[in-house]
Amino acid sequence: MSNKKLTTATGSPVADDNNSISVGEHGSLTFDNHYTFEKLAHFNRERIPERVVHARGTGAYGTFTVTRSLKDKTIASFLQTIGQKTEVFARFSTVGGGQDSSDYARDPRGFALKFYTDEGNYDMVGNNTPVFFLRDAIKFPDFIHSQKKDPRTNLPNPAAIYEFWANHPQSLHQLTILMSDRGIPASYRNMHGFSSHTYSFWNEQGQRFWFKWHFKSNQGIKCLSNDEAAATSPVGAQQDLVEAIDQGDYPSWTAKVQIMTEDEAQDYKINPFDLTKVWPHADFPLIEVGQLELNRNVDNYFAETEQACFAPSNLVPGIGVSPDKMLQGRLLAYQDAHRYRVGANANQLPVNAAKCPVNHYQRDGAMAGDCPVHGDSNVQDSGVNYYPNDQINSGAPSPVSFVEEPAMPILENAWVKRYSTDGDDHYSQAGDLFRLMNESQKDQLTTTIAEGLVQATESVQHRMLIQFGKADIDYAARVKSIMETTK
Ligand code: HEM
Repeated sequence: MSNKKLTTATGSPVADDNNSISVGEHGSLTFDNHYTFEKLAHFNRERIPERVVHARGTGAYGTFTVTRSLKDKTIASFLQTIGQKTEVFARFSTVGGGQDSSDYARDPRGFALKFYTDEGNYDMVGNNTPVFFLRDAIKFPDFIHSQKKDPRTNLPNPAAIYEFWANHPQSLHQLTILMSDRGIPASYRNMHGFSSHTYSFWNEQGQRFWFKWHFKSNQGIKCLSNDEAAATSPVGAQQDLVEAIDQGDYPSWTAKVQIMTEDEAQDYKINPFDLTKVWPHADFPLIEVGQLELNRNVDNYFAETEQACFAPSNLVPGIGVSPDKMLQGRLLAYQDAHRYRVGANANQLPVNAAKCPVNHYQRDGAMAGDCPVHGDSNVQDSGVNYYPNDQINSGAPSPVSFVEEPAMPILENAWVKRYSTDGDDHYSQAGDLFRLMNESQKDQLTTTIAEGLVQATESVQHRMLIQFGKADIDYAARVKSIMETTK
């Protein structure tokens, strides 16, 4: 018999966990059943809202090790010294499906990292693709609505998916990646990760550098065809990661950055803050800076992976954002999602809590933690709760001016207004990617597109063919000819 006592949620020993209290052997239950009520009530609250996107995912802990110091570019404390190690929590995900959808959808994969640095948590909330479908946050809800299930039938709707893309040529580059032979990663270990956005570093001299993250899989890229994906277990990617780590076969990625100076950004041929474009490696080579290894599974999927809260606004001194309009929108969206999905004090949960002292004047809210006085803790302090105050010398927190970011440049003579970027070049990089593909890759890409596009209206098909044609005449011709044979 186990020595561990079964208790109520408040620690009282429980006499019987099989039988409720009833009036006689066959009678109704009574109000004395507070323990049964506790169980049923807690059970009703076992779920929190799933993430509105990236609902299906899997997480693990690991280590980031610096292999090249970035001291000349940033004051970020975790990037200073070769050999320096920082604990990381990673979560990989699909985007469009719900929590119990397949790991093998043709969908981008989320690649989110939380670095527990000694100056606070830094989150790199990226994808397995270097670009995205959009370049303005105002479009994100429309885009996601068009890709998720139809509101009436609750079924996938390829007509709506392609209607969105027909109206947004800015998506063509990412669409070409998604429909290509790289559209379904064989596992989370076999894909790269990208910040996609441009962020900024700043150094001790107050110089700013624009940069992008690239995490290159040391396992190599492996992908599945549509048929292979359909025949694979829907939980396969999760199982692959958990089992590899349990068996000590730790997956790893080589971390690289591309760096652009402020001067280079001024007159570079493409807008460096346009999330639908890559920075060509010939102009901005990849610089290796570290190794990421995942080496510990979570103990409790719900407590850790499900309640993990990643936010592009979780930044540390030395790393800032950029004028990318998508990124700016994300600075609001994630914290707001966490307050709704997990709660006002989500950052006190162990997976989200910083490993360094957290001292602030925010108070209360659901599930507020305990209250040491000026205690350098990760929870709320019971000391003075306003700033400024007269207790700075006795331990009340005060701001640290040397971590002030250098002023953000405005790279143009600007008015505050809505700027339409519809006239931009949406086609060159998509065309370049198409021309890089071999025959079989071109076949795979255009067949996958044709199979979906054939289900859209004629007007949508027509507008999509114009887009493919602007990228490369052969791209459009192939899609058109396969559609004709599929009809
Ligand atoms: C303005 C555009 C975007 C908006 C409004 C947005 C919004 C969101 C929201 C609300 C969540 C759920 C957060 C949660 O409940 O914890 C989420 C998750 C996520 N997003 Fe975005 N997103 C945008 C663009 C992007 C882009 C461009 C990327 C990649 C470069 C990205 C990567 C991710 C990842 C990886 C997750 C899952 C994080 C996790 O594992 O918990 N998102 N997004």
